[in-house]
Amino acid sequence: MACGMVVEKERRVDLGKRGETHRMRICLRCIILIHKSYPRDYTTNITSAIISKLQRQLHLQPSHPLGILRTLIENHFSSFSHFSDVSPLVTPAKNFDDLSFPADHPGRSVTDSYYINKDLMLRTHTSAHEVETFAKGERQWLLTADVYRRDEIDASHYPVFHQMEGAAIFGADANSMKELEEKNAYLVNYLKSTNIIIEDVPHLSASNPVQSAHDPHHAETVAHNLKLSLNSLILALFGGRKDEPLRVRWIEAYFPFTSPSYEVEVFFNGKWLEILGSGVVLQSTLERANVPNSIGWAFGLGLERIAMILFGIPDIRLFWSEDPRFLSQFLPGKITNFKPYSRYPPCYKDLSFWLPENGLHENDFCDMVRDTAGDIVEDVQLIDSFTHPKTDRKSQCYRINYRSMDNSLSNDQANEIHAGVVSRLKESFGVEIR
Ligand code: DAH
Repeated sequence: MACGMVVEKERRVDLGKRGETHRMRICLRCIILIHKSYPRDYTTNITSAIISKLQRQLHLQPSHPLGILRTLIENHFSSFSHFSDVSPLVTPAKNFDDLSFPADHPGRSVTDSYYINKDLMLRTHTSAHEVETFAKGERQWLLTADVYRRDEIDASHYPVFHQMEGAAIFGADANSMKELEEKNAYLVNYLKSTNIIIEDVPHLSASNPVQSAHDPHHAETVAHNLKLSLNSLILALFGGRKDEPLRVRWIEAYFPFTSPSYEVEVFFNGKWLEILGSGVVLQSTLERANVPNSIGWAFGLGLERIAMILFGIPDIRLFWSEDPRFLSQFLPGKITNFKPYSRYPPCYKDLSFWLPENGLHENDFCDMVRDTAGDIVEDVQLIDSFTHPKTDRKSQCYRINYRSMDNSLSNDQANEIHAGVVSRLKESFGVEIR
């Protein structure tokens, strides 16, 4: 779709498939996302590698591990409303201010988040939709979506991943709280009959306080309901083994939009793994949504994290694979163990350069590499960094590991892709290669 503005530059970009690159015309004044044109400004940092992911909607595919997991959780919370098709473009106000993030929170910076321009960004978490969903009158809901964060590159970090937000609010009155206590008593009894060991912190504590707007007894009942609801979800997903109890632990946490706040870890294959954040919703969030006389909880869980554990998927990039050897392994509604197929050999390339005077953020380097080479990049590591004793110039060396998941990558192909990375590095950041 043409925006009608002058095309000023051509660039080699990855098309997201098998590392193929194409020359693409880039307009320096505007950017086209999901069939709409937006003006660029000094904050614009979304890359074409990211744009190519915006409409993949992996969580909506019924036989994709992320789609399977979404459906299993939705079935568990069957009385909740379910949302899973919400645009990733949000205002920074929605993503941060509505949730009481402080003005200097690092997540707001262009090195951590993707901006289309100063007024529009890609959501960094599904919590960005809390206020609007409560404002619609929804009182118990799940919302699943793709979220975007600028990050390092390795087997468990990818700049696009999926989260599910869940929330439930209740009347802040004696009758509603009595009903909730009865539900809690039922869940306590149910969990007693199962093979789960829960290590818990108190629902409320001085270091993780009850909000001043809340009756402490109400806050206690709501936090207890949060824990019971999530413990039974975790049991439904991970449990079921008679020989080995499921171990879950609750840890005090901090989030700008909940108090008290908790993180949950599950013991799996000999390790504790963090799977979600949660807490009692800040009353100011509910006030912004215009929901009076209510109190509630919310949680946000990372779908890839849980799917990697449950399906035994070793590398986060596999979720994006279009290889039938990956996709044909999964069936709607079923958790099955991923059977690895032969991996193609990796190809390492080192890249040493003198930094420009104003430096170069690691996330800017990683994004440029991923934008140029695509999913061929398995990981990027800073392996050396030094300052010249006489000239005071700073040098860095990154090791880039290229590996195709779908076909074999020859050294010549890797060299060609790497040459593209080197020229982009010089062109975009003005570094001097050593
Ligand atoms: N949005 C948080 C994140 O991405 C996760 C989270 C924490 C969601 C606490 C919640 C919550 O709803 O209550 O790290």
